[in-house]
Amino acid sequence: MKAEPVKIITIFGTRPEAIKLAPVIKVLEEDERFINLTAVTGQHREMLDQVLNIFSLKPDYDLKLMEPEQRLAALTSRIISGLGEILSQEKPELVLVHGDTTTTLAAALTAFYQQIPIGHVEAGLRTGKKFSPFPEEMNRSLTDQLADIYFAPTPLNFQNLLRERAAEEKIFLTGNTVIDAVRMISEESYQFPREIPVAEARERGHKIILLTAHRRENLGKRMEEIFTAVWELISTYSKVELFFPVHLNPRVQRLAESRLGEHPRIHLLEPLDYQTFINLINQSRLVLTDSGGIQEEAPGLGVPVILLREDTERPEALEAGTVLKAGTSRKKIIELAGRLLEDEEFYRRTTRSSNPYGDGQAACRIRDALLEYFQLDDGVFQPFSVQD
Ligand code: UD1
Ligand code: UDP
Repeated sequence: MKAEPVKIITIFGTRPEAIKLAPVIKVLEEDERFINLTAVTGQHREMLDQVLNIFSLKPDYDLKLMEPEQRLAALTSRIISGLGEILSQEKPELVLVHGDTTTTLAAALTAFYQQIPIGHVEAGLRTGKKFSPFPEEMNRSLTDQLADIYFAPTPLNFQNLLRERAAEEKIFLTGNTVIDAVRMISEESYQFPREIPVAEARERGHKIILLTAHRRENLGKRMEEIFTAVWELISTYSKVELFFPVHLNPRVQRLAESRLGEHPRIHLLEPLDYQTFINLINQSRLVLTDSGGIQEEAPGLGVPVILLREDTERPEALEAGTVLKAGTSRKKIIELAGRLLEDEEFYRRTTRSSNPYGDGQAACRIRDALLEYFQLDDGVFQPFSVQD
C-alpha cells in the first residue's frame, strides 16, 4: 500500500464540466489520501464563475482563456500551452478531466505529452457519428483513447468502452456525477429571484415550458427553425409561458433576441445559477433542449424532455420514454410539445420518474476507484446498478 498522498490535478473550463466535477472535487478534498488541485482554463467565464460560486470552489489555477466567439483551433492551442506549464511545475500523478469539451481533449493531450496518467469522468458516451454532436463526439472518443482510467456513468457507456478495447480492469461503472450535483443543491422551499417571474406565471394559471439551445451544429438555420417552432407554439397555446435562459454565445444571443424578443409570454433570461435552473426544471411542464446534461437531470426530476437534436449519446432516457426526440424539425417540435401540453395520458406516460443515470453516489465511487487504482485501499469499489 502507498503511504504518501496521491497528487491529482482536476481540470475543467465550462459550465457543465464544473457542475459535474464539483461533487468529485468535494469528495477528494475531504480525503487525506489525496492532494487535489484544480485548474480551470476559463473556456467559459461568467457561466463558469456562476458554478464556482454556487459550489464554493476556489481553483488553484485559472488560465482566463475565454475570448468572444472563440474558434476551436486557437482555443485548443492556448489551453495546451497554458496547461503545459502548470503540469510541468506541479507534476501530478493523475490528471482528471470530464466529458467532451475543447478543454477536456486539450487537457488530456497536454497530460499525454508529459506522460501523466489521465482519468476520464463521464467516459464511454457515444453517438457513433463523427460530426454529431460537433465537436463533442470526437472530443470524448479521443479523450478515451488517451485515458488510463475510465469512470463510465451507465452500463451502456461501460460496454462502449469495452467494444473499443479499453482494458476492463480500468473501467469503473460509477453513475453520473450530475445526479450528485442535483442532490447537493436541491432545496425544498426554494424562492425564485424577482427577475424570474415563475410565481406570476403560476398565478395566471399558465404552464411553464423551459428552453435551452446552444449546440454548435445547430447554430444558423437549425436554430432558426427551433425558434420559429417555439414562437408558433407559444402563440398557439395561450395558457403557456416560455422561459429561456439564453447561452452567452453571441450567435445564440443575437438570434434569440431577434426571433423571440418581442413575445409577451416569452421570457429571455440571463444564464441562471444552477440552483435556480434546477428549480425551474422542477416547475416546468416540459423542457425543450439540445443540451447534454439536461437530458440526465430532467428525467430524474420527472419532467419530460423534447430533444432538439438528431443524435444523442444518452439513449437511456430515450428508451425509457422520458426523453422524446424532435430533432430540429419545426413540425415535430410543435406536434410533440402540443401532445405533452394537451394529452394527459401521454403526459403521464412520459413523466414516470426514472433515473438510469445515477443515484447520487458517483463521486464516492470515483474516489473508491482511485483508491484501488493507486493501491491505497483494496476491494472498496462497488459498481453503480440501475434501479427501476
Ligand atoms: C462549450 C462546449 C460544449 C458545451 C458547452 C456548454 C466546446 C467546443 N463546446 O460550448 O460542448 O456543451 O460549452 O455550455 O468545448 N461565452 C461567454 N461567456 C461564457 C461562456 C461563453 O461570453 O461564460 C461566449 C463567448 O463569446 C465564447 C462563446 O460563448 O466565445 C462560445 O463559447 P465556447 O466555449 O467556445 O462554446 P460553447 O457553445 O459554450
Ligand atoms: N444550466 C444552468 N443554468 C442555465 C442553463 C443550464 O445551470 O441557465 C445547467 C444545466 O442544469 C446542466 C448544465 O448547465 O447541468 C448544462 O449545460 P449546457 O447545456 O450549457 O451544456 P451541455 O450539458 O450541453 O454540455
